Amino acid sequence: MADQRTPKAATSDTNQGALAESGEPLSVAPANPPQEELIPALLPEDDADDEDNDSSLGVEDATSSTASVASSILNYRTIQGRTFHSEKYDTGYFTPIDDQQQESVDITHHYLSLILDGKLYLAPIKDGVQKVLDVGTGTGIWAIDFADQFPNAEVIGTDLSPIQPTWVPPNLKFELDDATQAWSWVDNTFDFIHMRYLFGAISDWDKLLAEAYRCCKPGGWVQSCEIDASFVSDDGTVDKVPGLELFNKLYQESGKKCGRSFCVVAEDLQRKSTEAAGFTDIQTVNYKIPIGGWAQNQKLREVGQFSKLTLENDIEGYTLLLWHNVMGWPKEEYQIFLFNVRKALKNKRVHGYMKLRFVYGRKP
Ligand SMILES: C[S@@+](CC[C@H](N)C(=O)[O-])C[C@H]1O[C@@H](n2cnc3c(N)ncnc32)[C@H](O)[C@@H]1O
Repeated sequence: MADQRTPKAATSDTNQGALAESGEPLSVAPANPPQEELIPALLPEDDADDEDNDSSLGVEDATSSTASVASSILNYRTIQGRTFHSEKYDTGYFTPIDDQQQESVDITHHYLSLILDGKLYLAPIKDGVQKVLDVGTGTGIWAIDFADQFPNAEVIGTDLSPIQPTWVPPNLKFELDDATQAWSWVDNTFDFIHMRYLFGAISDWDKLLAEAYRCCKPGGWVQSCEIDASFVSDDGTVDKVPGLELFNKLYQESGKKCGRSFCVVAEDLQRKSTEAAGFTDIQTVNYKIPIGGWAQNQKLREVGQFSKLTLENDIEGYTLLLWHNVMGWPKEEYQIFLFNVRKALKNKRVHGYMKLRFVYGRKP
């Protein structure tokens, strides 16, 4: 067990927080809120109760691109008792689309809002932003908040299935679209193109960002936010934790097998593809997202409680298709794996975090 009282300070490489990387001189001030150092809270040496008990947190706290909804789109597939996208848009995407998974998506939105101190984006978009696209909108929660904040903007959210609510701000609409195919919008349509948590969905990031570039107006911005599905720690406390080692291996190997990375940050795909597409003034902002309420800093502790909740709420949804259908690992070992992950998540002496990265750039 690493010494709880002398946690290793985060390195500048992994805790860049407010540090921005840019190959070009900046024409705009970066809007990069700094991240406090991710330091574990002190635990009494003889504290037998290591459990990260977040029971006080209620989920309620966290609270063809223009295809019509043809009936085939509603023929959802059932895999291992969970509902996935229909055959029409069978991209092999790895999470279900049912209520349980949607809850996790919404809780994720909450901890991402916390880490950004309530901001919805980092790119320096103008107040008068007019047309906005949210690619892979999920439950539409980001697009709804954005449309509320910018009532004069016209916001479009796209996804593979029509799971979004119908009661939304009047300036928001949802459309079906497979983002990995050619986009149907004409050149220079959007002032802001937002993409978040598309890890495991994209085989060709260059192609995705090239379409974003084409559809972005000159002077408009693209922003990508991704997290690596991989537990890491600065003090070695995630090493050799059975559930977590296997969790990391599941995502690393599944990514290779299906040709869609779950470690977009480690592979620096967002920045490389944003650059390759031709965007300029590119900014990269990194955060460490603690998993569990183990951090000393209050904000990061809260972020960690909610990030843990997303996993605890639907650890099956995040892993079952990869375990059974992609990797074909032994069925009888799956429940043991889930048990070990849940146990590790509860242990406050495991200081696991995931790497989160925002990359944004401007079309010249
Ligand atoms: C983890 S969720 C994130 C949702 C939303 N971006 C957010 O951050 O709240 C990923 C979403 O991407 C969608 N997705 C996956 N592959 C896609 C594709 N090829 N085209 C469009 N959406 C896709 C999934 O259906 C899912 O709703």
